[in-house]
Amino acid sequence: MNNKKLALPLLPYSYNALEPVISQKIMELHHDKHHAAYVNAGNIALEKLEKIRLGEMEGNLREVMRDFSFNYNGALLHSLFWQMMRPAQENNAPDEKVRQAIDENFGSFDNFKKEFSGAATSVEGSGWAVLWKDKEGRLMAGQLEKHNLLGLNDMVPILVLDVWEHAYYLDYLNDKASYVEKWWQVVNWDYVRHIMGEVGQMV
Ligand SMILES: [Fe+2]
Repeated sequence: MNNKKLALPLLPYSYNALEPVISQKIMELHHDKHHAAYVNAGNIALEKLEKIRLGEMEGNLREVMRDFSFNYNGALLHSLFWQMMRPAQENNAPDEKVRQAIDENFGSFDNFKKEFSGAATSVEGSGWAVLWKDKEGRLMAGQLEKHNLLGLNDMVPILVLDVWEHAYYLDYLNDKASYVEKWWQVVNWDYVRHIMGEVGQMV
């Protein structure tokens, strides 16, 4: 038995809800094709692991475990990513509690935004910018290469930004910096606040 089977969640809004920051076309492809592919491949790797464990097939464990890590983390990150966006708002900003936590860890919201945007624009190859939180409430900004490399083992992601080309290229071509800058308009700070509270101490 293994309870780590993945499922493709519905988007919490319509495909065009994030326009003009992220187009309907990107959302359709990103959710229906890319995210779905990670879910399917993750479940296939999971089945392989179970079959190898039961002696029903031979397989290269290193290869299957790498495959599982990549696709499983890819699927989870996308599920999180959909939740932490909402229709664009002018002057979109976190509430006082989240801002206070960010100020304590980064000095100011502007410092944080600069560091997180810098993480996003400088990922080597495909990856994510991530805001992590540990059990003591400490925050760090960082990167994930692909979906699963460079993580910090005592921290969980509470804000993620997909900077794979499939996330922006149709809308922004190679201007990743514009995508990152406009993305701040669609951050769902209420959701970030919600999961900040679920992880470790309340903020
Ligand atoms: Fe993606």
